Amino acid sequence: MRLSLSGAKRSLASRIAIAAAGLALGSTMAVATATTANAAIACKVTYEQNQWPGGMSVNLTIQNLGDALNGWTLTFTFPDSGQRVDYGWSANWSQQGQSVTATSLDWNRSVPSGGSVNIGFNGSWSGSNPTPTDFKINGVACNGTPSSPPVTPPVTPPVSPSPSVSPSPSVSPSPSVSPSPSPSVSPPVSPPPGGRVDNPYEGADGYVNPEWRANALSEPGGSRVANTSTAVWLDRIAAIEGAGKMGLREHLNEAVEQDEANGSKPLTIQVVIYNLPNRDCSALASNGELLISENGLNRYKSEYIDPIAEIMSDPKYRNLRIVAILEPDSLPNLITNVNSHEKCREAQQSGAYVQGVQYAINKLRAIPNVYIYVDAAHHGWLGWDTNFGPAVDLFYSTIAGTQYGVDGVDGFIVNTANYSATVEPYFNINTTVNGVTVRQSKWVDWNQYVDEQSFAQALRNALIAKGFRNTIGMLIDTSRNGWGGPDRPTGPSSATDVNKFVDESRIDRRIHAGNWCNQAGAGLGERPRANPAPGIDAYVWVKPPGESDGASEEIPNDEGKSFDRMCDPTYEGNSLNGYNKTGALPNAPISGHWFSAQFQELMRNAYPPLD
Ligand code: BGC
Repeated sequence: MRLSLSGAKRSLASRIAIAAAGLALGSTMAVATATTANAAIACKVTYEQNQWPGGMSVNLTIQNLGDALNGWTLTFTFPDSGQRVDYGWSANWSQQGQSVTATSLDWNRSVPSGGSVNIGFNGSWSGSNPTPTDFKINGVACNGTPSSPPVTPPVTPPVSPSPSVSPSPSVSPSPSVSPSPSPSVSPPVSPPPGGRVDNPYEGADGYVNPEWRANALSEPGGSRVANTSTAVWLDRIAAIEGAGKMGLREHLNEAVEQDEANGSKPLTIQVVIYNLPNRDCSALASNGELLISENGLNRYKSEYIDPIAEIMSDPKYRNLRIVAILEPDSLPNLITNVNSHEKCREAQQSGAYVQGVQYAINKLRAIPNVYIYVDAAHHGWLGWDTNFGPAVDLFYSTIAGTQYGVDGVDGFIVNTANYSATVEPYFNINTTVNGVTVRQSKWVDWNQYVDEQSFAQALRNALIAKGFRNTIGMLIDTSRNGWGGPDRPTGPSSATDVNKFVDESRIDRRIHAGNWCNQAGAGLGERPRANPAPGIDAYVWVKPPGESDGASEEIPNDEGKSFDRMCDPTYEGNSLNGYNKTGALPNAPISGHWFSAQFQELMRNAYPPLD
């Protein structure tokens, strides 16, 4: 995970769906029966949407009431010229003027008689947002009498597929509808004692994970940081129960004890939700256990999110402030890596990432004392305009499409497990050298940002301009971006060549900003604290320092982790890091495992330095 790339060259082209769409409250159904030379086509289309000013998230269910279909094309017309499909899933979407076309993909082209298919899109509108009514399948209007009665959607998703279900969870052989955020679920009714706060870090102590603390204490000098709050990562289903380590309940029980021992201040515990199907789709080091093609989205919902939500909603935890960090890298991968990585393309086409994130928000946000921050990558990934704008759109449409609308989240986190500096002290994006902008340097590579804080603040502003409330706040993972030690510059360079100037002035000492695995020379960053800068809710240590980003060579394991050569110090790199060396430390264990040598170096190079 923690991919980074020169996003200038990647972007909109990677988005499959283009056009967009209409709105309307409730749903529209049209039913048709017709006969062609070969087969009787009869269909019913249900159009359900959540809408908000200027935007919408629409789920469509196509029920096949006629003969089996082998390949289908759905068409409909937006009544208003301002309606657009921006981002679609589970079909090839296109829009010409007001006419929208969605064509089946390989995995959902066959729909048995009586079967159904779920597809959807996020879209935008201006003017008005009426519901389309002229649905056609393969040119035949869906406006007749159904040959079988409409089927009531199941309330809960199927837990496991029946053997005849095709690979995607959204196609099923019997008429069924995948769950979409149910408008009937009511928002939280009982606020946490003291009420829901704007910034869960303010005035609170941070949970100290006893397992991370023990690892830190096992290292000479580790006691200087062992009481720092770090996040608990639920990186697979088994992590909920613990699998030999502390499970979620044990952490929350321990958090209650820490809270009670610490007097009157509330306690904030951070839990990373990290198990989407096709996880880490553009890299290998943190590949997960679930696959979209093996019913992963349904398993994510029922075996992962549901049990987590059940535990977190236990009343004995109601005094805790539980911060859920949602799915590092997932939505950003849909922005830049769909064309280059099959697993990302599948994540986009199936809608699994968007639907998984929406499901997690709907479940977790229902718990009054859970606060949600969605991962927004880092400046070296989304900092180019061509990636930034689409990311803002995708964050907005995804979250506005939850049952809580834009109130589904409390904010966003940047730099999770990455190494980008919080602030570059000796130059900023407006610095010029001999009349040449630093944007033109190889290091900055036309990015719009040189560090995480300026990126986080700009992203927050753009999200608010898009429609989020101005109460959203940003988090910055500062666990490993300190860049102290002997190689840290002490002032701006006097060089007149822009490349030399930037390379001698930057505190981020990586070989290339696209390097992300176990970076040599890094140090612990700012210690966690609330309200460090305008718009920033907190500096946090989400990646527990000392836990590896990935193995430096192939190591067999039962965690679904693969070997990513970006973690191999001998690798010569690829287009994403400009064919540079990876800068990764040697002899690293698989991701998440304790890496003593790295922890030692992080302490040596800490900035601010350790006492
Ligand atoms: C790994 C997880 C681990 C987390 C925190 C991720 O890169 O994939 O297994 O829990 O880092 O160290």
